[in-house]
Amino acid sequence: MDIRKADQHFIHTYNRSTTFVRGEEMYLINDEGKKYLDMGAGIAVSALGYSNEEYKQGLKDQVDKLIHISNLYFNEPAVKAANYLCEASGMDRVFFTNSGAEAIEGALKLARKYARTKNPDNGGEIIAMEHSFHGRTMGALSVTGTKHYREPFEPLIGGVSFAEYNNLDSVKALITSDTCAIIMESLQGEGGIHPASEDFMKGVRALCDEKGILLILDEIQCGMGRTGKMFAFQHYGILPDIITSAKALGCGVPVGAFAAKEEIAQALVPGDHGTTYGGNPLATAAVCKVFEIYKKDHIVEHVNELAPYLIDKLNALAAKHSCIKDVRGIGFMQGIELDVPAGEIVGAALSKGLILISAGTNIIRIVPPLVAGKEHINEMCRILDEIFTEKGI
Ligand SMILES: Cc1ncc(COP(=O)(O)O)c(C=O)c1O
Repeated sequence: MDIRKADQHFIHTYNRSTTFVRGEEMYLINDEGKKYLDMGAGIAVSALGYSNEEYKQGLKDQVDKLIHISNLYFNEPAVKAANYLCEASGMDRVFFTNSGAEAIEGALKLARKYARTKNPDNGGEIIAMEHSFHGRTMGALSVTGTKHYREPFEPLIGGVSFAEYNNLDSVKALITSDTCAIIMESLQGEGGIHPASEDFMKGVRALCDEKGILLILDEIQCGMGRTGKMFAFQHYGILPDIITSAKALGCGVPVGAFAAKEEIAQALVPGDHGTTYGGNPLATAAVCKVFEIYKKDHIVEHVNELAPYLIDKLNALAAKHSCIKDVRGIGFMQGIELDVPAGEIVGAALSKGLILISAGTNIIRIVPPLVAGKEHINEMCRILDEIFTEKGI
């Protein structure tokens, strides 16, 4: 496809360079028949890869039964999907959305409403983290810790302040009697693949308990098995009050969710929140299939089995190439920090048939489909080795 022509009717928010027409297992095929190994999974979405027959059949069956009804009625897949999500996360009630950003919007609304059921005068202040990423809608942007994403769109929602991730004192310093919630990713993705330290996660939980503040954990990117637990917070032995999910929740069908513990969820009543499409039968049939396939095919166990291999291979690359400053992450969510712009390496990889994504300016983000095998890890590392060697870095 002529890229210039293809781009002429899109608002230019992305620099796209090729057109994919098909997916096969771990590979995407473009309109010229070239095959690419996908280690980005559509930005941490396609956890099952591209050829899961059971997943595709589940969607086809649902298309034949019922694609959409309004949220004024129950639909069977939504009921089942809500049960699965509650069971997997330890939450009690779910609201399905169409995207991650909308899940954040709902979580923020719920936190403010809950605080005001306790104290009608609560100012609804929210503490978020520097370098966080929660999405592009106005509310989600308001709690996103990267200034250059926020500033062109100000004024955003008020009452948000930013603490330093993994620095409990900086969180403490921002708490006031008007603070209703602390929101953070369990493992920062877009901000550069920074896992929460155990002390920080437990410390924030304890602080929230002590001060009567809600802890919202954004599991949109790091959840759904990516770190070797169904949700990344489960590595820390704590339970948040509200979680957000999306991305691999539907493995490609657009769906997100926010979920909360019973007492908190009760704060939203009919009329407080809504969505036309959120939780429709097609989207939630995808969610059901995802949970069922994860269980049957031991997807999370596979991540735990293969992650040490991935980490070893990345560390071997780091030992060989001085441009690699750090390798960090949990499970199948790894970052390679470089002393050169990541975009250059991502571009070179694409021309060699490898799809990678960056995080920030100098970090390569490895978020493959969770079904990636040793052969795919080897292929990725071979291409990266080739690129670094060619560049002499
Ligand atoms: C941690 C996190 N939260 C929220 C979002 C926003 O999700 P969406 O792009 O589906 O709106 C993203 C997207 O990358 C994310 O990584």
